[in-house]
Amino acid sequence: MANVKKTIHGEWSSRFAFILAATGSAVGLGNIWKFPYITGANGGGAFVLVYLLCVALIGIPLMMAETMLGRRTRQDPINTMEILTEEAGADKNWHYLGWMGVAAGVMILSYYSVIAGWSTAYVLKAFTGSFFDADPAVIKAIFDDFVSNPLRLTFWHSLFMTATLMIVVRGVNNGLEQAVRYLMPSLFGLMILLLGYAMTTSGYFDGFNFLFKPDFSKLTGDSVLTAMGQAFFTLSLGMGSVMVYGSYLSSDVSIAKTSIIIATADTFVALLAGLIIFPLVFTHGLHPDSGPGLIFKTLPIAFGSMTGGWFFGVLFFIVLAIAALTSSIALIEPAVAWLVESKGYSREKACTQAGLVAWALGLGTVFSFNIWSDVKLFERTFFDLIDYLTANLMLPVGGFCIAVFCGWIMHHQHSEQELNLGQPLGFKLWMLLVRYVAPLAVFLVFLHVVGVL
Ligand code: TRP
Repeated sequence: MANVKKTIHGEWSSRFAFILAATGSAVGLGNIWKFPYITGANGGGAFVLVYLLCVALIGIPLMMAETMLGRRTRQDPINTMEILTEEAGADKNWHYLGWMGVAAGVMILSYYSVIAGWSTAYVLKAFTGSFFDADPAVIKAIFDDFVSNPLRLTFWHSLFMTATLMIVVRGVNNGLEQAVRYLMPSLFGLMILLLGYAMTTSGYFDGFNFLFKPDFSKLTGDSVLTAMGQAFFTLSLGMGSVMVYGSYLSSDVSIAKTSIIIATADTFVALLAGLIIFPLVFTHGLHPDSGPGLIFKTLPIAFGSMTGGWFFGVLFFIVLAIAALTSSIALIEPAVAWLVESKGYSREKACTQAGLVAWALGLGTVFSFNIWSDVKLFERTFFDLIDYLTANLMLPVGGFCIAVFCGWIMHHQHSEQELNLGQPLGFKLWMLLVRYVAPLAVFLVFLHVVGVL
């Protein structure tokens, strides 16, 4: 029954294409920018261990759940939730889950594109030698000066958004799939090159030990919950992206296997980013716990003073921009798929409309760093607010609801049929994880982010 349904957008041409695209969505600013700095702030090894556990026990089952929902209906997330709610005879309010996913995608994209724009601009800065022999104060001044100009930030934001839309408008096979086919291998290759350099630095072993030697005395309840939240964000869970990518997946592909591969690849890239960044941090006497500015405010110091720093600096920011691009196309796809399916728009029109909304919303983030830096709501700038709202509220709520829907609402024979795990024990284990473990864990993260726990 499920396998006679067809998506109107086209299917991934192979299992490998799906794996590349989903890994591309997962690997992004979250791995290269966020993972190192929160690992740094949470003391290293022990935090990494908890993070790995969360990926395995919550991340993989939820990724399977989302892929399965999308593939069962082969429609955009909004229609998917409508159809499946009806199929399960459940309360109509479950529809909102699809809406929230589409909205979260556009909202995350709005600021993602701004930060990715910085990365693109930093490619140029590295290229023109701005960091050469610059001391920390100069590097900080470069950053502060850069973000102080709204027009400049708008330019880079617009450029990145245009690149995203130019890929998405070409559709699943000619756009998304072609882009990841080239971008993902380049990303891996460039990162291995950067790792090769990091291994030659004097701080490599300090960096390695920081990442892999657990010191449990540094582990707080707070960092356990942060690790869980990160597992979530980095795997792109809790919104429509995995669902919509799942809806383009051929019926004969094993969802369990691909989910394990994607989560492993994503984790591998995060660890790789750590192995590149921490050795540089230790070699140059910088601090692993310098927070979100770790990449833009401290790494250029290392690039400015190390041998070959020009080359590796340019390379690093290209890697960051590529990683962001393969995520941003996944962020907008749920909205585009919905506009095409439900409003009958052409892909061009759908991309233009969804892109314009994300772009305009992104201006709020642009201004948060300059003309609106003092405009605050709940003590947060526009950027902080939209980041908090999406990553800390909408994703956990989305993930919680997806786990509950699969574990408690959807008929088990439907999920069993779609997952097609081949052996009953595998399904039982998955059910245990989505029924109890994932909702409980996500609930704890949620209490934490809203400040109750
Ligand atoms: N996983 C992305 C990263 O690590 C961020 C992200 C969250 C995302 N949700 C998403 C990307 C949905 C694409 C689609 O940077």
